[in-house]
Amino acid sequence: MDEKNIRHLLKIDRDLVWHPYTQMKDFEVMDPLFVERGDGVFLFDVYGRAYYDTISSWWCITHGHNHPFIVDAVKQQLGRLDQVHFAGTTHEPAIRAAQLLIEALPKGLDKVFFSDNGSTAVEVALKMAVQYWHLTGKPEKNTFLSLERGYHGDTLGTMGLGGVPQFKGPFDALTFDSIRLPAPYCYRCPVEREKETCQVECLDTLEKILLERQDEIAAMVLEPLLMGAGGMLAYPVKYLKRLKEFLEGRDIFLIFDEVATGFGRTGTMFAFEQAGVVPDILCLSKGLTGGTLPLGATVTTNEVFNAFYADYNEGKTFFHGHTFTANPITTTCARASLELFKREGVLDHVKDVSAFLQREVQRFSDLNLIGDIRGLGMVVAFEIVKDKGGKVPYPSDLRMGWRVYLEGLTKGLILRPLGDVTYLFLPLSITKCQIEDCLQRVWDTFKQCEKTFLTS
Ligand SMILES: Cc1ncc(COP(=O)(O)O)c(C=O)c1O
Repeated sequence: MDEKNIRHLLKIDRDLVWHPYTQMKDFEVMDPLFVERGDGVFLFDVYGRAYYDTISSWWCITHGHNHPFIVDAVKQQLGRLDQVHFAGTTHEPAIRAAQLLIEALPKGLDKVFFSDNGSTAVEVALKMAVQYWHLTGKPEKNTFLSLERGYHGDTLGTMGLGGVPQFKGPFDALTFDSIRLPAPYCYRCPVEREKETCQVECLDTLEKILLERQDEIAAMVLEPLLMGAGGMLAYPVKYLKRLKEFLEGRDIFLIFDEVATGFGRTGTMFAFEQAGVVPDILCLSKGLTGGTLPLGATVTTNEVFNAFYADYNEGKTFFHGHTFTANPITTTCARASLELFKREGVLDHVKDVSAFLQREVQRFSDLNLIGDIRGLGMVVAFEIVKDKGGKVPYPSDLRMGWRVYLEGLTKGLILRPLGDVTYLFLPLSITKCQIEDCLQRVWDTFKQCEKTFLTS
């Protein structure tokens, strides 16, 4: 593309397009990264410059961009069936995707309900849980437990669960309130324990909550082992085990939101496998299609499903659906992506490269800017602080994470931060060689930032 065309299109973008989670005024002083194509772990801008897609295009790319197996599958499906409503119809792509998904899950998760994205996958889970209790004679169970700093999407229902204050502010009056437990934010432990001796005391408050409000709680919803948007907070498996013990036998569903953590990102196909705790309802999206197209899925047990199974006039139907539920092209993508996990031995590769990544990244603790390094599987987060000893953050108006992002761009990295947390959320297909190169660039980025920030 020539410069004139680039400037012309950027002007149209500025005049007509409103970007998500973006302060549009930023584009007065810089252009958005104008991306032209993707290949493997790289994105290329219109000038032909390559960037590591370090955040997997908002946590969804798994097998790299434009994997030929997925591209071919989509091409073939496009000439056959593009879209059909999914009420009273079915088609092979949806059937195959559901079958492969259930095969990838432990026994007990039996039924797949498709939707469009991560937020809808969670909304479906909430409505399923509430209607289940309604149908089984406990209509008072319509409150949810969730976590401070949890994130489950941007629709009003999922915002009711969410605990990231910046995302909620003006909408408080519109969202329902959930009962939030402190986040297992181990670097800044909410109950001031040390990692080495922690007995998951941050869950102690649950005992009292259950004593007082058990009867009104429909489910506990959380992101297992890694809380994404809340700051890439990796937490130990013992947290999930203790939580499970608390909820056992109390008629409270456990809903895991694996929209971000699912499909290999944490080192296993699903994060919950590492704790051996299986949820009653599981929410999936992002990596479900390898990241190529949007699709959501909510998976649950036969027990939940059976509560809705009745003659039509009993009114037990689950009245929920979206125009593009189980779209043939998006479910084709899911089918192809799930097949790739087997064909290419993706999880073995992930085991190998994620161990390498977690080891190599430890040297970043030498950097003055980095207060905490945490991670799991293909995810690593660096929390930027002003004072390491006191864990003192920089004032938020300094936008340190953003400044690191700008520096990263000059080094071929897309380090889009979460506040002052810079993180890598790497495509599963990345090689050790690429990780080495990528980490060197991240190191150089931080070093340059240290030079600029710490001397100014
Ligand atoms: C854990 C989690 N749940 C739900 C969502 C919402 O997904 P979507 O953006 O596709 O609506 C996200 C998005 O980042 C997420 O990380």
